Amino acid sequence: MLAVSSSSMRMALRNVSRAAFSTSAVSAMATPAAEPAPKMKTFKIYRWDPQQPTVKPKLESYEIDLNRTGPMVLDALLKIKNEVDSTLSFRRSCREGICGSCAMNIDGVNTLACLCRIDRDSSTSKIYPLPHTHVVKDLVPDLTQFYKQYRSIQPYLQPAGPAPGGKEYLQSPEQRRRLDGLYECILCACCATSCPSYWWNSDAYLGPAVLMQAYRWMADSRDSQGDKRREMLQNAFSLYRCHTIFNCTRTCPKGLNPAKAIAQIKKDMAIGAPKDAADRPLQAP
Ligand code: SF4
Ligand code: SF4
Ligand code: FES
Repeated sequence: MLAVSSSSMRMALRNVSRAAFSTSAVSAMATPAAEPAPKMKTFKIYRWDPQQPTVKPKLESYEIDLNRTGPMVLDALLKIKNEVDSTLSFRRSCREGICGSCAMNIDGVNTLACLCRIDRDSSTSKIYPLPHTHVVKDLVPDLTQFYKQYRSIQPYLQPAGPAPGGKEYLQSPEQRRRLDGLYECILCACCATSCPSYWWNSDAYLGPAVLMQAYRWMADSRDSQGDKRREMLQNAFSLYRCHTIFNCTRTCPKGLNPAKAIAQIKKDMAIGAPKDAADRPLQAP
């Protein structure tokens, strides 16, 4: 009978497993995993070039293999720009829904291209710039008026005097919570450009984004200019062109509720705002 020591047995087993590994590794290298079949989708994208002002805007089609593209519409746009047509213009920066640059109209909805998943079930998607804006080029809207209106509401803290102790303007956790649902706005303009009242009166009506920011400062317990801020809205157009249609709230890609903030301003202006901003009702999204 052949005596086999435990050490030689272990070595034999190791050699067998090495051989098995190298055989399977070689066969894996010889037969690479099959590529998934291409999944083609057409993106029809609004194009207009200011350097050719006599050429009318048009929709240009780009076919993309979704199996070679990231999951979001911004990924598809970047792929088109990088690999197919470098003349396509659009804004983007953070690619994670915090800069607000990539706002556009995708399949009829104002949203952020970086937060919008590509619809893999439809064969075509249409992409336009934000509606009712002047177009700088392709998907780039001119937001000059939007930012001018934002500046007009004085979007910064105006306290009554120096901070107590010369250090900080303190808030209770409850007072701080009252700004939730307001301060998160990234000024993407999706809501303003979905508002029919803003479409027709954007020269005079401030629109949902700017009005929500006006309320954000009215609701801040550290700010002393609530009355002045409301007074600035006391005219036929700045605020009262809102007809509570709620397009703004439906479209906000950050899940905020500008229509509710506007309703709160109207209520405060009708029945008088509480003297202490901390008495305001919570403004949850
Ligand atoms: S609720 Fe007011 S701000 Fe919002 S879409 Fe309607 S009219 Fe515009
Ligand atoms: S409220 Fe929403 S949709 Fe409107 S600007 Fe702010 S983040 Fe954009
Ligand atoms: S790239 Fe910043 S929000 Fe989309």
